[in-house]
This record gives sequence, C-alpha cells and structure tokens, in this order.
Amino acid sequence: MDLGFRGEVAALYRRYRRGYPPPVLDALVAAFTLTRDDVVVDLGCGTGQLAVPLAGRVRGVVGVDPEPDMLAEARTAAGDLPNATWVVGSDADVPALRAVLGTGSVGAVTIGQALHWMDRERLFAELRTLVRPGGGVAVVTNGTPLWQQGSGWSRALGAFLRDHLGLGGDRACGTDEESQRQYAATLSAAGYDVTATTVEYTAPLTADAIAGGVLSALPVDRLPADRAAFTAALENAVAPHAPFAEDVRVAVLAGRRG
Ligand SMILES: C[S@@+](CC[C@H](N)C(=O)[O-])C[C@H]1O[C@@H](n2cnc3c(N)ncnc32)[C@H](O)[C@@H]1O
Repeated sequence: MDLGFRGEVAALYRRYRRGYPPPVLDALVAAFTLTRDDVVVDLGCGTGQLAVPLAGRVRGVVGVDPEPDMLAEARTAAGDLPNATWVVGSDADVPALRAVLGTGSVGAVTIGQALHWMDRERLFAELRTLVRPGGGVAVVTNGTPLWQQGSGWSRALGAFLRDHLGLGGDRACGTDEESQRQYAATLSAAGYDVTATTVEYTAPLTADAIAGGVLSALPVDRLPADRAAFTAALENAVAPHAPFAEDVRVAVLAGRRG
C-alpha cells in the first residue's frame, strides 16, 4: 500500500513532527527493563522520532520502515549516532529479522504511530519469538491529530481542512480510546502482559508548526500545488486563536513477554 510518505512529505515529517519527551523513554526502559546490553527494533520508525532518542538508552537500535525517503531523513536526524541502523522493511519482515538477529535477541520492539497499518494479530504472534523473556512490544501513539483537538485553533483548522482539502475529521490514527482498547486486547490475546502508561504535557505551537504538521500528514500526491498560498490561508484561518498551545497525550501500551 502506498501511503505517500515520500519526497517532500518525508522532509516535512522530520522537521515538524513532535518527538517523544524523556518520560516516554523512561516508561519504555522501565516496562522491559532495558539496559545497555539490549537491542531495540523500531518498526515504522519514520524519520526516527522514537528510534534516535532510544539509541541513547540501549546498545543499539534497528529502525525499520518501508519508505526509503523516511529512512534517509532518519539517518540525517541521527547525525553521527554510532549505534542506530536503518533498514527498508515492514511488519511482514519480522521472520527475516528474527533469522538475522536471532530468536529472543531483542529487548523491545517499539511501534510509534504506525500500528494502524499493520497486520496486528500476525505481528504480535511473530514478535513473541523475536523478543527476549521480560522484553516485549510497545505500541506508542503521539497525541491527537492537530485538527481533532478541542481547542479553538484546532476547530478552526478542522473547518479549514474540510473546506480546502475535503478532509474529514475521523482519522485518529490509533490515538482514540476504541483503537487503544483493541490494541491492548490483541496484545493480551497474543499472550503478553499489558500495561498502559500516559505522558501528558502542554507545548507552545507556532502557526508555521501547525501548517507544517498538517502538510506532513498528507500523502505526497495530495500536497497542495500552491504551497505558499495554502499555508498563508491556513495560518490566516487559525490566527484569531493565537497564541497556540497543544495538549499532547502520549500513550504507551507495553506488552511484556513472560
Ligand atoms: C506516522 S509515521 C510514524 C513515524 C514515527 N515512528 C513516529 O512515531 O513519529 C508512520 C510510519 O510507518 C511506516 N509504515 C507504514 N506501513 C508500515 C508497515 N506495514 N510496516 C512498517 N512500517 C510501516 C510509514 O512508512 C511511516 O514512516
């Protein structure tokens, strides 16, 4: 499936998407007792929002993503990090990863904001033999989409996107409660012990960051042709609600292998 995470969208993603603050990394380390001896696989790593900071906590990180442009941006974001590597692949490649890395060789497999595109039942079953005992799978979501939050600027943004792009407000990308319940139930049915942690914080936002965040969420073939005009109109639509702040709620579902 072509999700359009290519070209300019990959660059926008690296520039504008939020990373994960230290308490999220602390939660992952605590859930799986990760140490400097562990390797972590970040599946659907995108431009490295989770993989790059995780590399500072463990022996090594393997970032896996089907989109070469996203991986190229991740490599740039990683700079001279010596212990992160970037591999083209998808959730269908877990058996090959296990063959290469070894059974029970991995402390954790993290999936940040990407599980909604994966074959979850098959994936969770296959990951049980890739992770070591006490390790596991973490499903991480990084806040509600910008146009679905309760604030004034978010509602204005939602209305603008409906008018200009015909975008409905229903795509929550796994951040909604029903998806979270389903993910937890699927992990549990696959034999993992599941715990849920949330990290909440409020961060200031600029109009440029709102526009960039929106553009980074579009498939590359849906980017508006006149980017400057689109961005100016979007910024105009939200301007009455300045200054902007975003309440971010990061959810970490940790499935621990006993
Ligand atoms: C929204 S981005 C998330 C990037 C990053 N993990 C984060 O938390 O910001 C989703 C990523 O999942 C990747 N992806 C889509 N389908 C996938 C699949 N079946 N297996 C692995 N990755 C996939 C996309 O290419 C994209 O880079």
